[in-house]
Amino acid sequence: MQQTPHSQSHRPRQVSRRSAVGGTLALGVAGLAGIAAGCAPDSGVNVPTSTAPSRTTDPTRRAASGSVLLAYFSRSGENYYYGDRTELEIGNTEVLVGMIRSRLSCDVHKIEPADPYPFDYEETVERNRNEQRDDVRPIIANQLSSFGTHSIVLLASPVWNSSAPMIMHTFVESLDLAGVTIYPITTHAVSGLSGVPSVYEELCPDAIIGAGFTARGEAVAEAGGALDDWLRQVGLV
Ligand SMILES: Cc1cc2nc3c(=O)[nH]c(=O)nc-3n(C[C@H](O)[C@H](O)[C@H](O)COP(=O)(O)O)c2cc1C
Repeated sequence: MQQTPHSQSHRPRQVSRRSAVGGTLALGVAGLAGIAAGCAPDSGVNVPTSTAPSRTTDPTRRAASGSVLLAYFSRSGENYYYGDRTELEIGNTEVLVGMIRSRLSCDVHKIEPADPYPFDYEETVERNRNEQRDDVRPIIANQLSSFGTHSIVLLASPVWNSSAPMIMHTFVESLDLAGVTIYPITTHAVSGLSGVPSVYEELCPDAIIGAGFTARGEAVAEAGGALDDWLRQVGLV
């Protein structure tokens, strides 16, 4: 399996493993009670969940002059669907990315795992659980070598076990994001943004973490209005 345990020399901070494993979630068919206990409640509609900017710099400061990168990870295949399962040809996060890019001028980068995640939902849950437990940094097949001239990055991913998939850790740790404004974006079943913004806060201490946006995966196509509101709220449009 093409994964790398996160080496000590590559570990800038303690947080990632503890916060990643701190959640309890593996969404089983009967797993909603456990999810509700461990995460922010979700109303079932696409209400954006925002986090207050955690750093003092105005997160919209660079929006006028800087270029925007929309980097995302998304998995097609068997997935959670209102307590059951469905097969997604296009991952929910990728659907949301399409909605964002139709509203916003940005460069887009799809984060591809060198060792793709299984089609099977339970196998993916299990692999993710192991990666969180072992603080793995899954190898990215197409890792960006530099952040280029972008000054804003929208980081989009599903919520996995109450946190960001470990491949998002690989992505942000491979880049110098000092001074860059990061907007966390997730799709989820019930968890909202969950622990994702705090992962980026801890892995990217010199970045500015702006208010995040989240949409429920099963209803992502209906999130356009909330997305419009959020884009205006953070000053991206
Ligand atoms: C391995 C795995 C773990 C998940 N863990 C959570 C979770 O903790 N909380 C939650 O609300 N949804 C969870 N989900 C559901 C996904 O976040 C949701 O279906 C998302 O929209 C999937 O996005 P994607 O299709 O782009 O991968 C999980 C799904 C998978 C496959």
